[in-house]
Amino acid sequence: MVEERQRDTSQPADGDGYERVVQRLIPGYASLARLAVALLAASPLASREGAAILVAGCGTGSELLEAQAQRPDWSLTATDPSAEMLAIARDRLAGGGRIDWRQSTVEALADDGASQGRFAGALSVLVLQSLPDDGSKLAFLTALSRSLQPGGQLVLVDRMQPERSPLQKQVEAAWIGFQQASGLDAAAEELAPLTDQTHPIGLARLSALVNAAGFSDPARIFQALNYEGFLLQRAL
Ligand SMILES: C[S@@+](CC[C@H](N)C(=O)[O-])C[C@H]1O[C@@H](n2cnc3c(N)ncnc32)[C@H](O)[C@@H]1O
Repeated sequence: MVEERQRDTSQPADGDGYERVVQRLIPGYASLARLAVALLAASPLASREGAAILVAGCGTGSELLEAQAQRPDWSLTATDPSAEMLAIARDRLAGGGRIDWRQSTVEALADDGASQGRFAGALSVLVLQSLPDDGSKLAFLTALSRSLQPGGQLVLVDRMQPERSPLQKQVEAAWIGFQQASGLDAAAEELAPLTDQTHPIGLARLSALVNAAGFSDPARIFQALNYEGFLLQRAL
């Protein structure tokens, strides 16, 4: 009897496909990792030589590649529960410096005493959106906060719930137009895991969750349609 393998639905079927799709789906994606790393590198704690940095949900490794290019001195820990995504990231990073690879959620990593309060900074790009707001988002954010040193900063990028606006339909039409102009055949591509299966929240809810997790209010540093980036600081 052939055992049916359960597919992880938090990302498209193959990680190579992920890279191809995400660049055509998210305006500005190609610059996101660069911007996220530059922001963190300018923070008081992460600017220090050899700072320990956590890349939460590293996926296929875009933030790691950029971190190694901008800050080869950083001590990087990469976590992702998906073996498939991690394997692609490891291939892409093969020529670079040493990375502490963890096939784990951030929540499980934070339960390990050695990780608590260890990191000077963290990056979380397009991860929170995949978790439902049933305690899972708060658990993820709390784990990130616990992993950071007091004053450590987090760059968080996510798909947000659109604000009610009479212009929202135009924004949605523009998103489709962007995808088509980028050569993405939305009907044929496996977009569902990156869009339909996300759980976007609004800014008020995000603020409440990050405050409950021990972070400052989120400061917006990026917006492209409904994709937004924020800088957060763990309370001192
Ligand atoms: C949409 S991908 C984003 C990957 C990468 N950060 C990027 O921007 O291309 C989301 C990744 O988060 C990972 N993930 C989901 N839940 C997670 C958790 N609780 N802790 C760490 N990673 C998680 C998934 O396995 C997936 O690789």
